[in-house]
Amino acid sequence: MSSQTSIRRTTTADIASRKGGEPIVCLTAYDAPMAAILDQHCDLLLVGDSVGMVVHGLPSTVGVTMEMMILHGRAVMRGSTRALVVVDMPFGSYEASPGQAFENATRLLKETGAQAVKLESGRYAADTIAFLVERGVPVMGHVGLRPQAINVYGAFKARGRTTAERAEILSEAEATANAGAFAVVVEGVAEDLAREITERISAPTIGIGASPVCDGQILVTQDMLGLFDWTPKFVKRYAGLRAAITDAVVQYASEVRRRSFPEAAQVYRLDGPSRPKKSEA
Ligand code: KIV
Repeated sequence: MSSQTSIRRTTTADIASRKGGEPIVCLTAYDAPMAAILDQHCDLLLVGDSVGMVVHGLPSTVGVTMEMMILHGRAVMRGSTRALVVVDMPFGSYEASPGQAFENATRLLKETGAQAVKLESGRYAADTIAFLVERGVPVMGHVGLRPQAINVYGAFKARGRTTAERAEILSEAEATANAGAFAVVVEGVAEDLAREITERISAPTIGIGASPVCDGQILVTQDMLGLFDWTPKFVKRYAGLRAAITDAVVQYASEVRRRSFPEAAQVYRLDGPSRPKKSEA
């Protein structure tokens, strides 16, 4: 191979090697400008299917399509140079068979340039993960609260509340890691279950609503930036974007209505060197 770039992107192997080491910093990204800001500070950017809810206003991730994931995946790749970029496989694109998953996963990698896919990995997914990984598609798993199963659960709430559910999540996590996933998102479970999963599986765990015991953390970027009125219990707001945007828009609207925007500094003038000569006018 002769092609060389000055900055090397983080690889799935880099992430896998961080098990039990320095915590892995992950956030979601859906567009190029945001990816460019996050890229310098994150190990992994996830083009999550949460894009359906956060950007497209859908009530859940169920309606997200391959085309949406490809469009947003390409944008995030254009905006980033360092972080590992992982694209979510949308609901209905991988569950039917390993062959269906391979077809759609390779489409995501080829058409976005991202290095890996993520899929929600109930026990049913172990064969699919092994099939993909053996054929060159790195996979990140996702256990615990699986948002694509919202119509089975009935509500977005923490999972692993009963002994049976706990055992099921633990076995899903083990099956996911044993099948070859390079990392596993653990969503919406209590700290003791997150600890048990993290201790038992060989792949790093990336927690979201799963306590600090995980090998890394991920949040939906717009949640942690405070873009919405309401955020779940596990989200810490690091900024107040909703209030900042509202203040800015209120001021803009008032200035437009008073004709105090645009000001002189924002107005083009045709005097000076760029003024067209009479003969050119
Ligand atoms: O779609 C998503 O954003 C996710 C995470 C937040 C883990 O799956």
